Amino acid sequence: MLQIGTVKLANWLVMAPMAGYTNLAFRLVAKAQGAGLVTSEMISAAGLTRRQKKTIEYLKSVPAEKPLAVQIFGSSPETMARAAEIAVEAGADIVDINMGCPVKKVVKTGAGASLLRDLKQTSRIIRAVRHVCPVPLTAKIRLGWSRGKPVALETARMLQDCGVDALTIHPRFATDGFSAPADWEWIRKVKEHLKIPVIGNGDVMEAPTAIRMKKSTGCDGVMIGRGGLKKPWIFRQILRLEKGMPAPDPDLLERRNLVINHVRLFREYMPEKRALHGILGALMWYTKGLPNSAHFRESISRARDFDSLLGAVDRYFAELENVPAARYEAQ
Ligand SMILES: Cc1cc2nc3c(=O)[nH]c(=O)nc-3n(C[C@H](O)[C@H](O)[C@H](O)COP(=O)(O)O)c2cc1C
Repeated sequence: MLQIGTVKLANWLVMAPMAGYTNLAFRLVAKAQGAGLVTSEMISAAGLTRRQKKTIEYLKSVPAEKPLAVQIFGSSPETMARAAEIAVEAGADIVDINMGCPVKKVVKTGAGASLLRDLKQTSRIIRAVRHVCPVPLTAKIRLGWSRGKPVALETARMLQDCGVDALTIHPRFATDGFSAPADWEWIRKVKEHLKIPVIGNGDVMEAPTAIRMKKSTGCDGVMIGRGGLKKPWIFRQILRLEKGMPAPDPDLLERRNLVINHVRLFREYMPEKRALHGILGALMWYTKGLPNSAHFRESISRARDFDSLLGAVDRYFAELENVPAARYEAQ
């Protein structure tokens, strides 16, 4: 069990924030598969304070996904503090500060991973948010801005001193991309350095890897990103492995049902046009590496409404039934 401030989680597994993916529909899928905590996509603090309709929509939540962490990004203490208040008013159980996004559009405004470059200013932001935020506050950091200049330890200490309740470390530099592996040794170092819970993140693509990360670094929780997009059932598998139970990948019928359920959740919670776009991204991950998946992706990208999308999903899985089991079970 992992506790973040006053929020007790059912377990130590966290679904990572992922822009374009961790919308309400996907969070419900991850939660149903066993994630102890789900996190929103990163949300612009400036957009929230300006009450931009599209930005406010990111805050939409339902009880079934709770507890929910809402991640905000920005560079102004006042705007970030106000955004945190808005997120809490909308039902956030935890507010998370994005200190790792390397995307140009974000860092050029001084937000995201840029916060690792000026810890003094960043501490002003954290204190301002802490001052007004009645729920637990967390932050997600990287090792530093650029290779050779790690600032994770001083950043972690500053965050703890400012009253952050837990932090996640994704041990890569902002300028790294995904080519180099995440350096888990830094998760261990940060954990050793702090009193607050530390959540490790990076390269957990299979269930046994999560258990290995926890054991080898001593971290309190493990956050999973891409592995959860590809295999949302990874959370359930980890929980079973932990108990010494077998944890096979779901069979074809279960995968089909998962995909159909995912599409239905999109249909229920998002406007059709936006949902169709969002679901394509999600289905691309689910089917990566499966036989004839390129053909499937092409057919779903032509779907103009949910019924034709569901039809394409049905046809694809019917085709897969003729493929020897080993070819998909091995993915
Ligand atoms: C498509 C995509 C979108 C992401 N969006 C966010 C985001 O909004 N906020 C954030 O803190 N990290 C974001 N990340 C980083 C992930 O949360 C995570 O730190 C990273 O993918 C490493 O974990 P993994 O190896 O388990 O995927 C994103 C990553 C991906 C692949």
